Amino acid sequence: MDNHSDAIVFFGATGDLAYKKIFPALQAMLKRGSLNVPVIGVAKAGWNLDQFKARALDSLEKHGGADPEAFRKLSSLLRYVDGDYGDPATFEALGRELQGSRRPAHYLAIPPAMFEPVLENLVHCHCMANARMIVEKPFGHDLASARRLNKTLLRNFEEKNVFRIDHYLGKRPVNNLVVFRFANTFMESFWNRNYVESVQITMSEDFGVQGRGAFYDQIGTIRDVIQNHLFQVLCNIAMEPPVRTDSESVRDEKVKVLKAIPNLEERNVVRGQFLGYREEKGVAPDSNTETFAAVKLEVNSWRWQGVPFYIRAGKHLPATCTEIVCRLRKPPAIFPAEGVTSNYLRMRINPDVAIAMGMTVMVGGETRIITEPVEMVASAQPTAEQMDAYEKVLSDALAGDATLFAREDYVEEAWRIVDPVLGKGTPLHDYEPQTWGPATVEELAPAGGWCNPVIDHDPAKSAQAA
Ligand code: BG6
Repeated sequence: MDNHSDAIVFFGATGDLAYKKIFPALQAMLKRGSLNVPVIGVAKAGWNLDQFKARALDSLEKHGGADPEAFRKLSSLLRYVDGDYGDPATFEALGRELQGSRRPAHYLAIPPAMFEPVLENLVHCHCMANARMIVEKPFGHDLASARRLNKTLLRNFEEKNVFRIDHYLGKRPVNNLVVFRFANTFMESFWNRNYVESVQITMSEDFGVQGRGAFYDQIGTIRDVIQNHLFQVLCNIAMEPPVRTDSESVRDEKVKVLKAIPNLEERNVVRGQFLGYREEKGVAPDSNTETFAAVKLEVNSWRWQGVPFYIRAGKHLPATCTEIVCRLRKPPAIFPAEGVTSNYLRMRINPDVAIAMGMTVMVGGETRIITEPVEMVASAQPTAEQMDAYEKVLSDALAGDATLFAREDYVEEAWRIVDPVLGKGTPLHDYEPQTWGPATVEELAPAGGWCNPVIDHDPAKSAQAA
């Protein structure tokens, strides 16, 4: 049997994620020729197929633009089932739409609390034979709920047919971290505890919760982006070379990184909340949810023991940027110490893509030796032809390639690390919007300080920042 899914069913078809991400991804797949199967939306909106198609068109117009030819094709593939996820009649209707399908992919773009009824009903309507299950984040709320969710899924599916989405894994610059490390000989020469002093990963966003207050207030920064997106980035930086490039060999190496990380302790966490957050729609007036977090992690592997890894993320910070800075140990002091800064490797994931090396050189026009920091940068702007993260992960899931999806053991290890600091006990500090978080974050800072991303790229400024 062809391994490609022959239908895609997406639950949550009238929701926000579908509107912002899924329809644009489906259109992009059509334009690239990687989608040619029925797309069945399921939701409880009281709509008919025409209304559903109108929603798809509206989504495309608002998010990147509708291509008339691609939309005509998408319209011919769209189907719609309206009904409650707890009602067997919804699934009987779905079963009729799926008649003849031999390998459907069910995509749960719905809150985790709804997974169980959907799964049960899918089993009863015989929509599960050879099926794949694509599951949106957040995958659970903590370690215990992630375990429960895994149990529920794996009762009905083999792990190889479960695709837990982390859209960061669909981003080319995130995957390029692995390629850059293992396709360049010089990288291995210093990529270890002997040369690297610290690693810091920053994901800053200059916007707030963008109308998602009710959702965000249940989640907070650690659950929203650290436990998933930024741990994936960390794994790409810290993993050993996989012995092969198949999905399991790659995912084995990532899990090993997480296994080497001890549980987070409160003293290695700073949580912050921007002033004004509690007035956001859907947010509790006495909310204890963090909109900023910085954590310090150990990776107790042969390669990294003793090198602190820092992750910092937050809303309403001064810039939107995801960047990694690996600071190297200083050389012995031969030249005047003032101008000699630590070398570093800076890898930017967005808004532009850059790999930069910070180094020290001699200032020109002086008779004495005076040094200054400079940066050597290779950078690129994302192009229109590049796959968006959602297009990438959906295409891979339909093709059955699990490499870029979080495996059962991976999600449980990731939750195990953050679980002790998810409770309400960890102190929460205020910060002014458009600053780099609460003042106390300086107490957790790496030797040499935090490297705040500089967006208007000026090499001299970036070098100073590091
Ligand atoms: C999502 C988070 O998973 O990732 C958001 O829920 C965050 O809060 C977003 O803004 C960032 O992803 P991207 O691809 O827009 O950088």
